Amino acid sequence: MNYDEKFENVTVLGAAGKMGSGILLLTSMEMFDISVKPENKDKQFTLYALDISQKALSGLVKYVRGQLVKAAEKKLNVLRGVYAHRADLIDNADIINEYVFDVMSLIRPVTTLESAYESHIVFEAASENPDLKVKMFSQINQNSKVEPWFFTNTSSIPIGYLNKEANLGGRVLGVHFYNPPVVQKLVEVIKSDETKPELGELATQFIKNLRKIEVPSYDFAGFIGNGHFMRDALYGMSKLEQLKSEMSFAEAVYCVNKVSQDFMIRPMGIFQLIDYVGIDVCQFIMKVMDGYVNDETIHSPLLDTMMEINVKGGQNFDGSQKDGFIKYEKGRIAAYWDLDKKAYVPADEIAAKCDAYLGELPAGHTPWKAIVRNKAKNEVLSAYFNAMKETDNNGSKLALAYLKKSKDIGLKLVSDKVAYTPEDVNTVLLTGFFHAFGPINDFIN
Ligand SMILES: NC(=O)c1ccc[n+]([C@@H]2O[C@H](COP(=O)([O-])OP(=O)(O)OC[C@H]3O[C@@H](n4cnc5c(N)ncnc54)[C@H](O)[C@@H]3O)[C@@H](O)[C@H]2O)c1
Repeated sequence: MNYDEKFENVTVLGAAGKMGSGILLLTSMEMFDISVKPENKDKQFTLYALDISQKALSGLVKYVRGQLVKAAEKKLNVLRGVYAHRADLIDNADIINEYVFDVMSLIRPVTTLESAYESHIVFEAASENPDLKVKMFSQINQNSKVEPWFFTNTSSIPIGYLNKEANLGGRVLGVHFYNPPVVQKLVEVIKSDETKPELGELATQFIKNLRKIEVPSYDFAGFIGNGHFMRDALYGMSKLEQLKSEMSFAEAVYCVNKVSQDFMIRPMGIFQLIDYVGIDVCQFIMKVMDGYVNDETIHSPLLDTMMEINVKGGQNFDGSQKDGFIKYEKGRIAAYWDLDKKAYVPADEIAAKCDAYLGELPAGHTPWKAIVRNKAKNEVLSAYFNAMKETDNNGSKLALAYLKKSKDIGLKLVSDKVAYTPEDVNTVLLTGFFHAFGPINDFIN
């Protein structure tokens, strides 16, 4: 069965979730492109959007429709070619409406697993629960007559575990999209020892067609992205604990967040990133990773405490940021959490004191937004980090130690056989986390 035939019947599991909705949209657009090829014009294409929540599926249909309109507007010229035989489609609006209608006709929102029994491909983006994933895979696999291929979006569960527990005979591959899948270019691809090579070949073609970047990862819990991020976050939290002996909890959050954003020229500080991903999600991923790592502890008592007091971060349904270590107002930082006071402390009450503690940014500092667009990025960064090494203030010392730790984490991912190469680690951080430079670099020794 070739690539196009495999796409004749596909199911997305957890289709109404954050990741599932994006994967469904991307898959629907790919399925449409396949279905309009002349050789496929008499074939039937079906995409099941499977989720347990009927209410969420209604929201999904609205979301997909809206996104398809935007996508159609961007590729009007291509679509004019696709619909060249349709003399009735004259205005741009006609073309857009037809495209949205045709793609939406491929999608069937469903709530029962039986729908997946005839699918050749199952993209799975259900909740990060190993038992749930195993149960769904087993049930589909046992009842299907077509030996489906399973592509899981798990962030942390080893693919070999899913293969073994659900008895899939090598028909499962990790295809780890980043959030949001429609925007993010990176896809980590994870083969277990058993994964059949044909699954990797199909995933590579799919990722290429979506114009995304594939990075392979060994099958180790957390893979490259979370393997780096979780350790980086643990380091940030250990610095917070250390700074607490000199300042209040809220001030320590401010300082570590500012060092990891401004001094280290990253798109957001480490506590903002933990909030963005969700304190609950970070805690869960660490728990899974910790079960597989022998020589270190991947666990944060601080995250446990935050969960106990119900400060969780993550996003609201409309995509706005929920409060976590930081309180946000209209997307901007308004206050920092103080665990001792069990309250947020307004940023303007602590900023001056913290900025004085950290000191000036080193000479040649360029904000992240400007550096990512700078063609002479490497020269600018090299001069900046050299200046940092000459700058005798707390902010620079904390940043240099943090950058060194980030590099060591990256190198360990390679020596531990999580990443194949240092370049793969850098690509994940550059494309999946939008860093301006890879952690494994010559700026920091
Ligand atoms: N959110 C992220 O940043 C992110 C990034 C990369 C990968 N992931 C991974 O993607 C997967 C989904 O994560 P998410 O953040 O989209 O979660 P989510 O909670 O937004 O979505 C999960 C969806 O699964 C559905 N679901 C739960 N039980 C089900 C069942 N029995 N049958 C059918 N559907 C069911 C839920 O209704 C929900 O719509 C997880 O494995 C996660 O680790 C998440």
